[in-house]
Amino acid sequence: MEMFTPFAQAGEAESQQTSLEDATMAEKPFCLQKLASSHLVSVQSCDNSPVLGRLKPGSEVDLAEIEEDIKCKLKEVCWLPNFYYLPPDRRIAGTKAYQEGKIYGIDAASGAAVLALDVSPGDHVLDLCAAPGNVLQLTSLIFSAGAKLCTILDLLGCSGSVTGVDIARHRLAASRTMLLKYALGDLCRLFVADGTTFSLIPSVVKLNCKAGEKENTDTYREWTPRRPWKERKRVAKSRQDNASSEIIDPELIFYGRHSGVVGLNKCEVFKSVNDFEISQFGYDKVLVDAECTHDGSIKHIQKFEQWGWNTLSRRVLDAARTDNLTVLQLRLLTNGFRLLKAGGFLVYSTCSLTVAQNEGVVEQFLSQHVSAELVEIEAAKNWPCRPARLPKTLRFDPLTSSTSGLFIAKFTKLAM
Ligand SMILES: C[S@@+](CC[C@H](N)C(=O)[O-])C[C@H]1O[C@@H](n2cnc3c(N)ncnc32)[C@H](O)[C@@H]1O
Repeated sequence: MEMFTPFAQAGEAESQQTSLEDATMAEKPFCLQKLASSHLVSVQSCDNSPVLGRLKPGSEVDLAEIEEDIKCKLKEVCWLPNFYYLPPDRRIAGTKAYQEGKIYGIDAASGAAVLALDVSPGDHVLDLCAAPGNVLQLTSLIFSAGAKLCTILDLLGCSGSVTGVDIARHRLAASRTMLLKYALGDLCRLFVADGTTFSLIPSVVKLNCKAGEKENTDTYREWTPRRPWKERKRVAKSRQDNASSEIIDPELIFYGRHSGVVGLNKCEVFKSVNDFEISQFGYDKVLVDAECTHDGSIKHIQKFEQWGWNTLSRRVLDAARTDNLTVLQLRLLTNGFRLLKAGGFLVYSTCSLTVAQNEGVVEQFLSQHVSAELVEIEAAKNWPCRPARLPKTLRFDPLTSSTSGLFIAKFTKLAM
């Protein structure tokens, strides 16, 4: 199977990092977060539009502090409760709020995709493509590394769990850095893994391992950035094995204190389960924010000024690549749905505007899964989005929504 690599290659990303601190809000979405008192403000910029932000109830004092810090007033956004606009010419990289980890980036449409999941405290959530997309590779390392992941964790409160999976190790590591910076990782596990084959359910479920399997497997202690030598050796070996294998074994690169991992052993964390166990002990909510051509993101299109417009056909228009992408998207959606509990909800989103990567994938998926049903996105009633071609699915159009382009479909899994 073809593995998709980011459009922006690793080298590109590294060379771009130096300009990160100079980035302005006009160039990218981001959000602000107040951590210690669980207050949150998130802000998003979009092209010619103002910036949006989200503020948790009760944080007015902090809002004033942040306004002081970024030297402007935050204006409330009518369609996203507790979100605020900010002028697009503000710089935040140098602000205290940013440096103290009160700010992280998210596009408003991306925020909406997470809200569509309707995460409740206590939920076990799977984010199958959790690392920041390559659209925002430049900015995401600082501003929005796994922004949806951060938002899910914020909505979850202090119970439940979030499992973030991504195939790109370096970008998932950036998400880990952000979780640590914002102290959001307590309930979170991060796996470098192929989302099309990932098969682990939340760690909070106690699974029986055979006596033989348990032997010689160390119990996970509290996570520290410094891994014991034995574990580093095991991981290095597993990477070597993965390199020559079609199927990548999941690698646990981070787990929070209350993610359910501490106290379990490897066999318990990595135990494979059957479909019956998944229907009972799988995830309550799954987000499949799939890899795509990013053609709905004006920010991404603007990157061609740097990359050169002659790379457009390779990066976006190449039909073979798009065909492969739709296969990948369908596989991600299918596996995400497999890991969903009966009665749970899955949100599929892409920032492509093409029918093939959105309605096309959804239609194909529905034709293959009788237990899947599209559901209305209740929260979307006042969103500046429009119905997509399939009933109950929607699109944020960058021309009319003042957000990045995004397609969202929400499914439930019927008990069969
Ligand atoms: C649109 S981005 C996700 C953005 C992220 N949700 C955020 O909010 O910042 C798509 C992600 O899918 C990942 N990806 C591509 N193929 C994958 C696969 N087979 N399994 C898991 N992740 C994959 C890419 O590495 C990329 O990080």
